[in-house]
Amino acid sequence: MDFQYFPQNDFGPAIKGMVIGGLGIFHVFLAQFAIGGGILMCYFQWLAHRADSANGGGSCTGTPGVALAAIANPARAFLDGYFRFLVLVSFVIGALTGVAMWFTTIQISPRTIGVMVDEFHWLWATEWTFFCLEVVAGYAFYRCGRSLPDRARMTLLVLYSVAAWFSLFWINGILSWQLTPGGWTESRNLWAGFFNPSFWPSLIFRTIVAMTIASLVACVVINTMKDIDRDARQRLQNQAAYLLAPMVLMPILGGWYLAVIPEDSRSWVLGGTPAMSMFLAITIGASLLIGGYALVGLIRQKLYINGATATLLVALAFGATAGGEFVREGVRKPFTIREYLYSNSIKPGEVSRLRQVGSATNDPYPLKDAESYPTEHLLLGAKVFRVQCSVCHTTDGVNGLTHLAGSWTPDQKRMNIAKLQHTKPFMPPFAGTPEELEALVDLIEWTHAGRPGNWVSREPGDAELRQIADWLSEAGVEPRTPSLQAHDPAAKSPTREESTR
Ligand code: HEC
Repeated sequence: MDFQYFPQNDFGPAIKGMVIGGLGIFHVFLAQFAIGGGILMCYFQWLAHRADSANGGGSCTGTPGVALAAIANPARAFLDGYFRFLVLVSFVIGALTGVAMWFTTIQISPRTIGVMVDEFHWLWATEWTFFCLEVVAGYAFYRCGRSLPDRARMTLLVLYSVAAWFSLFWINGILSWQLTPGGWTESRNLWAGFFNPSFWPSLIFRTIVAMTIASLVACVVINTMKDIDRDARQRLQNQAAYLLAPMVLMPILGGWYLAVIPEDSRSWVLGGTPAMSMFLAITIGASLLIGGYALVGLIRQKLYINGATATLLVALAFGATAGGEFVREGVRKPFTIREYLYSNSIKPGEVSRLRQVGSATNDPYPLKDAESYPTEHLLLGAKVFRVQCSVCHTTDGVNGLTHLAGSWTPDQKRMNIAKLQHTKPFMPPFAGTPEELEALVDLIEWTHAGRPGNWVSREPGDAELRQIADWLSEAGVEPRTPSLQAHDPAAKSPTREESTR
């Protein structure tokens, strides 16, 4: 399938990738809470039921029966109260943000989504059936749970939780495939792609995160249950805190995950790119704080945690999720599907041809603000920018090219863009003609000058175009990986090299 053009939306000063990421963070947090919430409710239902039966046979069970009995009613009150409502709300909003993710991704990277749907058609359908089951069971418990006997309550909760967890199972295979397609790259085998190298570490990690979020939210909710006494609240919290115990596995799973992702991706987070390393540090720091408090304070010392502290921990968990998702999305650069599709929806094998025919030549879609460009040359530059750069850059907003490259000399711009994958290894190679590159340079100079209406675009001279063509062929059409970096002469930062001349 040849490179295809799709209409794309323009999100003003926000980078397109950021729009998906920002929405994704909420979606993931809510969806994971809904999964963990199910597990927690099963556990509390089991506790309440066990406490009742132990109470019934009180004489033989002795003291444990008494201690257990004290938890049965609070556990039921918890299950039938506010928490149940929160889980419902979160999976409803989780579903809405999920649909919103489809809606934004088709405006930003239709080709990526297209490949995902093509490859995993039936798995999406399977995920959807589990989601339906989750909705039905969850809503049935919400509406009728109170009036049902224990056994039926438990059945609904288990159905809900299993279905919710399986929807994670299916989606996790597809998302982890984007970064580590594994054997799929060679064989195009569906299951090789699904059970890819990062499938298990990310599935287990996400399950633990889901339980963590649910447990912390439970601690907040328990604080609002003023009709039971503090002792009972504390006992409930101590029970909820057991769901935090698996957090001790997080470092191992994190290490496992880092070990299986591509080498260059690993190097981005381990110091290669400051922003990415910082987000990873935030995620680890926040998780350590939560984990430390959970293990020492809540599980060992069985402390009572007040509403403010619990809320703070939930906020930390949100921060950790946000950082983690940012890193996970970020380390995939320059690909949306590793080795298969660049972030700008161009396939590695298409670069050579686009360098011949041009990346904007056959783009049928007009620019949204076409009338604001005073020359044809700038219009071309803006189209090239939209096709090749706009998924990660804006012109004047976040990660804006004007800000990054505006003050460079024209030759610095030409060379650094021609050697894009060497300028920063997380950018794909430039995939257009020398004329297109020159138009992009013109565009950056124009935006840097403040977008004057009376701009005269320089006619690109033959010498300049030939120089660009040379730089393009020096750069090659391959992406860059750090293993090549050490002995690659083109790897030296051209910017600095140029400016010290
Ligand atoms: C996969 C995402 C991605 C794509 C696609 C992409 N870039 Fe970048 N680019 C980045 C990131 C991330 C940075 C780093 C920004 C920073 O250092 O703050 C960057 C930095 C730059 C820089 C500054 C480099 C330096 O040494 O300071 C320039 C110039 C640039 N990009 C130009 C472009 C142009 C032109 C295109 C399109 C032809 C493009 N980029 C496509 C992600 C991308």
